Amino acid sequence: MRFVPFRMERYQSTYEHRVRINLSESGVHPLTVNELLKIADKDTDVGDIRLGYGQSNGSDLLRERIASLYTDATEANVLVTVGGAEANFTCFWHLFETEGKAAVVLPTYGQVPGLMESFDGRILPVNLIEEEGWQPDLAALEKALEDGARFVLITNPNNPTGAALSDASMDAIAALTAKHEAWIMADEVYAGAETHDATTRSFWGCHDRVLITNSLSKAYGLPGLRLGWVLGPSELVNRLWGRTDYTTIAPASVSDALACVALESGTRERIVARTRGIVRANLGLLEQWMAGQDGRFRYRAPDAGAICYAHYSAAVNSTDFAEKLRTEKGVLVVPGDHFGMDHYLRIGFGNPEEELLEGLGLLREAFDEVAG
Ligand SMILES: Cc1ncc(COP(=O)(O)O)c(C=O)c1O
Repeated sequence: MRFVPFRMERYQSTYEHRVRINLSESGVHPLTVNELLKIADKDTDVGDIRLGYGQSNGSDLLRERIASLYTDATEANVLVTVGGAEANFTCFWHLFETEGKAAVVLPTYGQVPGLMESFDGRILPVNLIEEEGWQPDLAALEKALEDGARFVLITNPNNPTGAALSDASMDAIAALTAKHEAWIMADEVYAGAETHDATTRSFWGCHDRVLITNSLSKAYGLPGLRLGWVLGPSELVNRLWGRTDYTTIAPASVSDALACVALESGTRERIVARTRGIVRANLGLLEQWMAGQDGRFRYRAPDAGAICYAHYSAAVNSTDFAEKLRTEKGVLVVPGDHFGMDHYLRIGFGNPEEELLEGLGLLREAFDEVAG
């Protein structure tokens, strides 16, 4: 094994709390504990939560509430993890060991690709095609499966593009993986944070070899709870639980209790409505700003998530530009280089309105300085 750094996370971890305006985040401005309790109309005294080890695969109540979000799932299908990050790690660890080669739909969040590289795993890339609204190259997926890919990693809605798969793409992925008896590992953390009325379909239920990962970080605006989950066939989920004994043992008991509050029927809908309200209003602001940029950026409005993946035409490397913006203007964005695609920037827009507008103004200033 050789350690391959996770470039985007390292960049964010290093600087996100050291800049004036952070436009590198992909979720909405997070809730405070008091705001969460107010939305829930609860007077839960957080001070009364006992800080013991909780049920290590997640409390029964929490697993029930998560299962209720999916058709025909029970708490036996759910493993609660420390964020989507641990859910992804756990699924990767199992699938890599038992299945081997992966088809990875790219660009994507770099965690599993980086882990595959670190463990000398073989990735068969399947590109999302920008001209087709960031839908996957299905011929490449079929070829990857014919060439021995045993699981398909897909982030839907996607990070960094914010694009959701069409029904046709999802059906084709389900049919191809079924035909080749391959697994789908679907990271669905942005589902629920849509910029329009539709809610992204889950891969859950499309056939028997599906592992879903998700968390409260994006659609619920609660990343600090570090609360995620795996949804999968019950017998496999039980085995995956054995792997989290090695990683974190259990989710934090405070997080489990507050996640139960967030996912209670009624509260959950109000939290998601808040997230959607923010992404919709702020996407409007971003689009207005984009309209004033003289066509220097090309982008497709995201279907979900507070992220816009914009191509620019200036002859400046994306990492160099992000560094100029950070060091000279105090604004952090994610360079396309972190997704293996220079001349793109991932601009987060989930911030409070004034901060977003100020950050975009500074981005414009920095861009004028390099592009004229
Ligand atoms: C696609 C995707 N999956 C997983 C994560 C990890 O998030 P968390 O561990 O907070 O759920 C992120 C974070 O940005 C992400 O974009």
